[in-house]
Amino acid sequence: MVFNKKLENFNPFSKKDFISVEQITSLREIEYLFQIADLMKEAVEKKKKSFLLEDKTLVILFYQPSTRTFTSFQAAAQWLGCQRIIAIAGMEFYSSAVKGESLPDTIRTVEQTTNCDLIILRHPDDNSSEIAARYANVPVINAGSGKKEHPTQALLDLYTIRQKFGHFENLNIAMLGDLKNGRTVKSLSLLLGVVSSKISIVFVSPPELKIPKEFLEKLKEKGMKIKETENLEEVLPEIDVLYVTRIQKEWFENEEEYQKVKGSYVITPEIMKKAKRKMIVMHPLPRVDEIDFRFDSDPRAFYFYQIRNGLYIRMALIAAILGKF
Ligand code: CP
Repeated sequence: MVFNKKLENFNPFSKKDFISVEQITSLREIEYLFQIADLMKEAVEKKKKSFLLEDKTLVILFYQPSTRTFTSFQAAAQWLGCQRIIAIAGMEFYSSAVKGESLPDTIRTVEQTTNCDLIILRHPDDNSSEIAARYANVPVINAGSGKKEHPTQALLDLYTIRQKFGHFENLNIAMLGDLKNGRTVKSLSLLLGVVSSKISIVFVSPPELKIPKEFLEKLKEKGMKIKETENLEEVLPEIDVLYVTRIQKEWFENEEEYQKVKGSYVITPEIMKKAKRKMIVMHPLPRVDEIDFRFDSDPRAFYFYQIRNGLYIRMALIAAILGKF
């Protein structure tokens, strides 16, 4: 795969860690990455062979379950021609973390054992990627950290919104579900604040799962137009993007607490009759019961289309960080 298109001489990601969406401060940075993602999309669709990363070694360490992020990072590296990919899911069960090894020691160890050029990390602790980056001599990409950040998911979500609408101006976005524990909503909300001051966000959740107050204050300080409600049907007719999230059982203290909020919102074809015809429903997935399977065939159901963008965005990010553009 040869990328002939000449991009401007501007790569804000080159040789840097990618830990938080807060590293991104301008639409120009996002558009730069999206231009590369567009090239990646075209190359993958045409099944072009690439040798871009043939001299590189990538380490992918996952300490939490994953279907999409793990497979798409691995596939992204392979599509780019990477020959040496050390990808380990289940680090929490199979690495020396079980024997008490600390994250800093694991990071320093894998650099020695692999001579890698990049480390991609998913971990249950909020600050895990910052810690890994502090000890690594190579860039670290955050593939999901605790309840705090999922920056590559936010990028692929934003890329999906741009594909649908072609712009970010005057969009009404609803974030629905477990806003307390979910990290994707937090990263996407912050990134939406970078791309336009004319986006409105409404956070819809049961009282127990509201977005943390401090986080809401942070968005307000950035001048974002935000509000909260428990009533989805009241706001649904005005929404352009309904971003649905799973109620995250794994963070609950006990089954009883989870059962109280389980099934609080379920997107059905009947409810969606109240929504615009040209809006979209997104979801970072996995889903449990929050979107009825019957809605999957509705043209507004964008969540499986959204997943594929993860491959293009992660290809673009890896290539940009490794200075290939
Ligand atoms: N969206 C997302 O992070 O999915 P996985 O947990 O399957 O990677």
